[in-house]
Amino acid sequence: MNAVILYDSRTKKGSTEALIDSIGLKLAEAGVYVEKAKCKAMADYRFVQEFDIVILGAPVYYFVVSSQLLAALIHGNLKKNLRHKKIALFLTCGSSESMATLLYLPQLKMHLVRNKILAEKIIATSARLQKDAIDEFVDDILVEYDKTLHKRALSKSVQWSDEAMQLLDSIPPFMQSLLKGRTEQYAQEMGYKVITLAVCDAAKDALGREI
Ligand SMILES: Cc1cc2nc3c(=O)[nH]c(=O)nc-3n(C[C@H](O)[C@H](O)[C@H](O)COP(=O)(O)O)c2cc1C
Repeated sequence: MNAVILYDSRTKKGSTEALIDSIGLKLAEAGVYVEKAKCKAMADYRFVQEFDIVILGAPVYYFVVSSQLLAALIHGNLKKNLRHKKIALFLTCGSSESMATLLYLPQLKMHLVRNKILAEKIIATSARLQKDAIDEFVDDILVEYDKTLHKRALSKSVQWSDEAMQLLDSIPPFMQSLLKGRTEQYAQEMGYKVITLAVCDAAKDALGREI
């Protein structure tokens, strides 16, 4: 697995860079190959496609997430190259977590609505609080990434019949992924290799009972 940390900071060798080094170290300890890159608004971000996970983070200055990262998303080609990527977000700032979640995190998230966000974290500037936050952030990333791999493996282990696939296609898109995953999970638990219309019905009943 590999990951790139894209970050921005006005401060050379400031607290954000130190924080990124700690995140990178913790990921590396877990066996992840990690690179870091400082954002420039108009850089070419095609390289992010080579990474399994893209971690984006920056400090907040005067109520705004640091500008090069935002500009790369808004004016550069970063957003385009993040399509279908699994990402994680962090912000470092002096404000409380609740204020940062409300005011600052949306500045990043509004540009990433189509992405799978594995984890997001507000990381305080105080070194004492940072350690736990970094550990939690990295653990969340790894756990959520593993889950996506498990889902993909599950998807490969069961087949869909043409009729069942047509049924799935007829469902509103926002429900498809959830129902596909739950039906595949049901099929695997029950030992079905092919998902037919009958399996879909049975899965629907089982799902109904759970709800
Ligand atoms: C000029 C300046 C403005 C800041 N404005 C804010 C702010 O509006 N909200 C906030 O929560 N933190 C603010 N902070 C705190 C920074 O986000 C925090 O110290 C961050 O770790 C700085 O990262 P750096 O060392 O990489 O520059 C500000 C810090 C500075 C130096």
